[in-house]
Amino acid sequence: MNDIVKIVIQRKSIRTYTDEPLSNEVRSQIEEYFTKLDNPWGVKINYTLIDTKGENTNGKLGTYGVIRNASSFIAATLFDEEFALEALGFELEVLILYLTSLGIGTCWLGGTFNRGEFAKEAKLTEGQIIPIITPIGYPAKKTSLTDKLMRKMSKGDSRKEWNELFFLQDFSNILTKKEAGIYREALEMVRLAPSASNKQPWRIIKETNIYHFFEYSTPGYSKAFNYDIQRIDMGIAAAHFQLTIKEKKIKGEFAVLEQQISAPENTYYRFSWIGERSEELVMGELKEIYLAGGCFWGTQKYLSLINGVISSEVGYANGNTSNPSYQDVCYRNTGHTETVKLVYDSNIIPLASVLKLFYDVINPVSVNKQGNDVGSQYRSGIYYVDEKDKDVILESIAELQEQYTEKIAIEVLALENYTKAEEAHQDYLNKNPGGYCHIGPDSFEKVRKMN
Ligand SMILES: Cc1cc2nc3c(=O)[nH]c(=O)nc-3n(C[C@H](O)[C@H](O)[C@H](O)COP(=O)(O)O)c2cc1C
Repeated sequence: MNDIVKIVIQRKSIRTYTDEPLSNEVRSQIEEYFTKLDNPWGVKINYTLIDTKGENTNGKLGTYGVIRNASSFIAATLFDEEFALEALGFELEVLILYLTSLGIGTCWLGGTFNRGEFAKEAKLTEGQIIPIITPIGYPAKKTSLTDKLMRKMSKGDSRKEWNELFFLQDFSNILTKKEAGIYREALEMVRLAPSASNKQPWRIIKETNIYHFFEYSTPGYSKAFNYDIQRIDMGIAAAHFQLTIKEKKIKGEFAVLEQQISAPENTYYRFSWIGERSEELVMGELKEIYLAGGCFWGTQKYLSLINGVISSEVGYANGNTSNPSYQDVCYRNTGHTETVKLVYDSNIIPLASVLKLFYDVINPVSVNKQGNDVGSQYRSGIYYVDEKDKDVILESIAELQEQYTEKIAIEVLALENYTKAEEAHQDYLNKNPGGYCHIGPDSFEKVRKMN
């Protein structure tokens, strides 16, 4: 299965099907896929492909009118052992996403089906449970009225916001998309996952490279079942996380940890993802660019707030002396320019978009001057370390030029030399909130809000 983001976005609960049955070839393909499924908890789940035209059913397997026309169903049966429900959620969602990639519709059913009838069809044995079935078939163009009602009742098209679901270190700090770094997309895919009555019980805390998964158990919700149906949702969340992470070639695994993070009421720790942090991997994902836009205090603050920027640092670039100090750069004509070194995730924000945001806060036609600061150390520039970036930069400068009659004064050069500035200048405006800045607070707020 490739392109997990596309498939996750494409999947929706399908409750109205066409009359077209699945071909024998497709059925075999699905049964073959059953044998490949596994889950992080090593729990065994059994799958049965049920034909509604089977001997006992007379085409009448009951879903209380919720599902129209499906000619086949998949039933999952299992023993209710530890993590069995998470395992079911995990495996069946992998299967469902695979079916979505084949153009086959599905719908998780945990409540609206006749459990007795399906149990018989799936040959349920002593001690086993049948928590979920899903119809499978080709989605009809026109949906039934019940289908529309079900979507409306469960608000199937809406999802909770990022800041209600993801946290940093503990439940009191919201995790920004930027702080999630290379894990951002995996979390976004969790956010979009399906869940029983669309309750989205997952809450995740990031602690360095570990992601702790908690379940907010809706009071009274699972009473109708003999098990906690929201544990299935947790398994679905784990599947979305894992599939996205795997596609990004990030290594790691799920484990159940002893951890001390205190959780709000009705919120329970379930499991964690422990990511292996290989620098090689990080460098493969991350890119560097050096931007000079006047006094580096404000430029750093602004650029560091861009979503997708992983780290920033201030320094002196492309001058004529080695190891310059701030004094050298300001008073000794060294040719260095005050520069911000940015590391950004090009999957989250491409270079062209970083540059567009950069242009918003400088005067691109001003020569050796930004705001009140005058001198060659305040010239604006874009310095690349990857030759492949040059064309992107030149194209973006050409686009910018179209908006001005004067010549764009931003120099575009390969980075020749760079010296990190003294510690006092790093994150200066965070350390000195009242400090001078040629970029207004509105610009900080605007870029912060884009996260
Ligand atoms: C564990 C589970 C049980 C569900 N049970 C039912 C059900 O019994 N009947 C139904 O119509 N939908 C059921 N759903 C579908 C959800 O209502 C649906 O996934 C949610 O509203 C989000 O909509 P979407 O799947 O179209 O994105 C269930 C989903 C999950 C994950």
